[in-house]
Amino acid sequence: MRHMIKAVGSLALGGLLLGQPALAQSPKVDPATVEAAVKGVFGHAPAEWQQRIVQDETQKACSLYRNQPPADVATAITERETKNVVLPADGKLLGDWKSGEKIAQSGYGGRHTDDPKLPLGGNCYACHQLSKSELSFGTMGPSLLEYGKIRKYGADDAKAAYIKIYNAQAVFPCSNMPRLGHNKHLNEQQIKDLVALLFDQESPVNK
Ligand code: HEC
Repeated sequence: MRHMIKAVGSLALGGLLLGQPALAQSPKVDPATVEAAVKGVFGHAPAEWQQRIVQDETQKACSLYRNQPPADVATAITERETKNVVLPADGKLLGDWKSGEKIAQSGYGGRHTDDPKLPLGGNCYACHQLSKSELSFGTMGPSLLEYGKIRKYGADDAKAAYIKIYNAQAVFPCSNMPRLGHNKHLNEQQIKDLVALLFDQESPVNK
């Protein structure tokens, strides 16, 4: 363990001395080698999971440019991802914020021990602050406190939030936020409930 820390330390130091990030020091790995290793790990997973390790165009581009695509590639990503967003057929964007809060709190789903028939969670608190009362939240994403209030509960902003949750990369190419609707992880009603969590005046987000 000590040796490992030392090794990592010297790698970072090497990066510093050369004025480059430590990441630039890592050896070039052949993508085919990585692919074979990932496939090997997934070998025993159920057949319906196998498709999940096949990268789509967007994932390939984000891997290639290490999540920092040049402008033309970035535009191609947001255009492609915007095309696959499906807005609610009934035109209603706001569901029930109480249900939205439960979805935001829940990280259920996607693990091999999870029952795929049970409702999946959005795990929003893992990356975002959403209410003042919940003290346990991650900070990879920005705080969403008073999200609707700040935007004066505008209908266009609610629509933008629906699109963001449906497909984060329609808005921000190579975002670390999962494409929750696009991946069929959350359904239309769940996304509406989350938009209500952000845009209902009674929601803890806006209190
Ligand atoms: C793995 C981390 C992660 C998860 C889980 C996650 N997000 Fe995000 N989210 C981010 C990051 C990072 C950003 C900032 C970059 C971007 O805009 O894509 C972001 C941005 C956003 C934004 C735009 C914020 C702005 O500045 O306008 C909204 C809205 C949002 N997330 C809502 C949600 C909701 C609702 C959920 C749960 C369904 C969720 N996020 C789950 C990481 C995450």
